[in-house]
Amino acid sequence: MTQQIEMTSDEDVRARVEELLAQLTPAEKAGQLTQYFYMDFMRDQAKDGAPTQPELVEAAMARGGVGSLLFLTDPAEINRLQKATIEGNRHGIPALVGFDVIHGFRTILPVPIALAASWDPALIEQGQAVAAREARAVGIHWAFAPMVDIARDPRWGRIIEGAGEDPYLGGHVAAAQVRGFQGARLGTPDRVIAGPKHFAGYGAALGGRDYDESNISDAELWNIYFPPFKAAIDAGAGNIMSAYMDLNGVPAAGNQWLLNDVLRDGLGFDGFVVSDAQAVHDLATHHFAADLSDAAARALNAGNDMEMTFVDPAFDHLVAAVEDGRVTTERLDTAVRRVLEAKVRLGLFENPYVDEAEAQQVLADPAHREVAKIAAQRSAVLLRNDGDVLPLSTDRLDSVAVIGPLADSPRDTLGPWIFNHDLSETVTLLDGIRARVGELAEVRFAPGVRPSFRTFASMFDMWPGNTPEDPEDFDDDAELAKAAELAASSDVAVLVAGEWQNMIGESASRSSLELPGRQLELIQAVVATGTPTVLLVMNGRPLDLRWPAENVPAILDVWYPGSQGGHAVAALLFGDDSPAGKLPFTWPRTVGQVPMIYNSTRSHQPDRQDRRYWDEESTPLFPFGYGLSYGSFSYGAPTLSADHIAVGDTLTVSVTVTNDGSQPAEEVVQLYLHQRYGTSSRPVRELKGFRRVAIDAGSSATVEFTLGPDELRYWSAVTRDWVQDATTYDLGVGGDSTVELGTTFTVR
Ligand code: NOJ
Repeated sequence: MTQQIEMTSDEDVRARVEELLAQLTPAEKAGQLTQYFYMDFMRDQAKDGAPTQPELVEAAMARGGVGSLLFLTDPAEINRLQKATIEGNRHGIPALVGFDVIHGFRTILPVPIALAASWDPALIEQGQAVAAREARAVGIHWAFAPMVDIARDPRWGRIIEGAGEDPYLGGHVAAAQVRGFQGARLGTPDRVIAGPKHFAGYGAALGGRDYDESNISDAELWNIYFPPFKAAIDAGAGNIMSAYMDLNGVPAAGNQWLLNDVLRDGLGFDGFVVSDAQAVHDLATHHFAADLSDAAARALNAGNDMEMTFVDPAFDHLVAAVEDGRVTTERLDTAVRRVLEAKVRLGLFENPYVDEAEAQQVLADPAHREVAKIAAQRSAVLLRNDGDVLPLSTDRLDSVAVIGPLADSPRDTLGPWIFNHDLSETVTLLDGIRARVGELAEVRFAPGVRPSFRTFASMFDMWPGNTPEDPEDFDDDAELAKAAELAASSDVAVLVAGEWQNMIGESASRSSLELPGRQLELIQAVVATGTPTVLLVMNGRPLDLRWPAENVPAILDVWYPGSQGGHAVAALLFGDDSPAGKLPFTWPRTVGQVPMIYNSTRSHQPDRQDRRYWDEESTPLFPFGYGLSYGSFSYGAPTLSADHIAVGDTLTVSVTVTNDGSQPAEEVVQLYLHQRYGTSSRPVRELKGFRRVAIDAGSSATVEFTLGPDELRYWSAVTRDWVQDATTYDLGVGGDSTVELGTTFTVR
C-alpha cells in the first residue's frame, strides 16, 4: 500500500521515543524486545489441554508483551494480530512484523546466489524493491535479508542465500539489496527494514555442516567476512541479525566483542540487533550460559536488542536481571529505544494497518513479474558452448526433447525459502520452452528419472508441496530408456538436472556435490544418442559436473530461476537475449577440493600446483567470475592515470572492451589486483572492481575504475589494524578471475 508518511526529523523521532520510553515498566520494555513466531498451523496442535503456540502469543499480546511478530503473510491476519497487539498495549504500541523475504514474496525472483551471479547491483536493487513492495503491502515491515554471509564451502546449504565467496562482490550485492528493501532511508513508502544476517561467520561452519562452529582468524574476519556487513551498514541497514553458531569458541549471539566492539564501534551500526530464532535460548544449549535467565542477561549485554523466539522468551527474565543488577536500566533502555525508533520511523503509529484489497492488487502487479523475468535472464551463467550449440534456432529445428523431472517442476523452479508463492502462475522450463517455440517445432517431454529425495527430512517439509512426489508405477530403467529414445528422435535435447530445492538451504548441507539420483546416468544416455544436447543446471551450489563439462557441448546454469524462470531461460536458449552472468564462487571439480577459493595466498611453491594433490588437479572446474556469452569479447591493455601514487592517493584505470562477435551481448568487466610485498602476504589476486556493460556486435566500450585507499588497504595480523603498504601491484582487467595481471603500478 502506498503510504505517504511524513518524514519526521531525527529530533522529533527521538523526542517521541523518549516520551514513550519514560512511561514503560521494565516488563513492558522486555515485551518490546520480544519477537514471537506466530505459527498459525500450530493452532490445531493442542496437547492435553495446554495452550497452543498461537494462543500463548495472543496471551502475551493481551498483556503488552509483544514487540514484534514473525512468520505471517496474510494481510487480514496481520491486521487482526496488529489490532490485538495495539489493544493489548497500554500505550498502543504496534508490533513490528518481520518475515523471511529472501528472494521475493509473491513474485519469486531467482535465488540470492543467482542474483549475485548477475553482477548487476541496479537489477538486484530493483528486484528487492519489488519484494519489499509486496511484503509491505500485506503488512510486513521488515525483511530478514539480505543474507550476506560469505560462503566458501558449497557443502553448506545456505550458500544459496548469499552472494558467494568474495567480499568485494558480496559488499556490492549486500548494499544493493539493502537499498532495494529499504529505499533511501527507513520509512520510505512501500519499503521495509533490511536485516542483513547472520553476524558473523556463519558461512564458515566446520565441514559445511549447518550450525556447527566457525573458527575464523581475525584477518579473515576483517578482510573477508565483515566487509559485506560493513557495506550493508553503510547503505543504511536498520537491523542486523546475530548468528547461531560459536565463533572462535564464543556463541555469536553472546559475543560482546563481536556485537558491541566490532558491530557498533568498528562498523558503525546504529540500528537494532535481533537474535536468530531461539538463539538466546541457545546460549544455554551451547553450555555457555548457566540457564535461561543468564542467557537473557548475557544476550542483551552482548549486544542483542531483540529476541526471536517461539514460546517462553528468555527475555521475560530481563525484569529480574535488572532488579538484581545483571542488566542495567541503561542497557535495557538503549535496546528499547532502538526498537521504538524503528517503529516511529516506519510510521507504524500512524499507519499500523494495511488495505487488504490493495494488497491483492500489489501482489498481482504484472510489472513485478517482468522484473523477475529480467532478473532470471541476467542471472544465468553460460558454462560451456562448444561449437556454438547455443543459441538454438527454431528455423533449424523441427523437434525439441525436454528431459529431466526438474524441467517441469514448478516448486523446484522457485527454489527454497519462499512461502507465499503461487505455483499455478509459475513458468517451468518446459512451459517456457513450449511458449517460446509455439507451433514452430514439436516439444516433447520425458522425465527420464524419478525425483530424488533427501535422506533426512527437512524442517521445511511441514509446508505442503515442499517435498517432491514419488510418481507411482515409475519403472526407472524403462523411463531412462524412453528419455534416451526421445532424445534420439529429436533435433536437440534440452536436459535439466540439478538438486531438488529442498536439498539446499537452511539445514540442507551435503557431504557430496554429486548430481542426486540417476541424473548423471541420464545425461550420459542422452549424450550417447549423438543428438546435440544442452544441459540446464538447476542449483544453488556448484555440483560435480566433471563428466558433463567434458562431454555435453552446452551447459547453462539457470539456478532456481523463480516465477518467470521458464520464459527467461527460453529467451536465452533461443537467443532473444544473451547470457552474461558470471560465477560468484569458484566451482570445484570435486567435493574433496573444498574449500577452494580464487583469492588464496601464493604460499610455498606456487608454481608447483601439481604438488597440491597427487590425485586431482588443484584448479577448479570453472573459476570465480567465469561465464560465457553469445558475444566474444577482447580486452585492450589497461591504461592508468599514473604509474606511481602516494599512500592515500587514488588512480584511475581504464580499459577498452570490444565485442568481436556477431551478436549484441553483455560482459561483466572485472578488475583484479595483487600486492607483491608488504606487511602481510596478500592473495594471488583480489577482485577490486567490476561493471556489467552492454556492447553491440563490432563495438567497443571503455570502462573506468578507481583504485584508492579503500581498495588497497587490508587488515594485517601483524599490526592488528588496517594498513596500506608502499608496494608494487600487478593488475589485470578481464572477463574472469584467470585474467593475466600484466600491468603494474607502485605506491610510495
Ligand atoms: C533461522 C534462520 O537462521 C534465519 O535466517 C531466519 O531469518 C530465521 N530462522 C527466521 O525464519
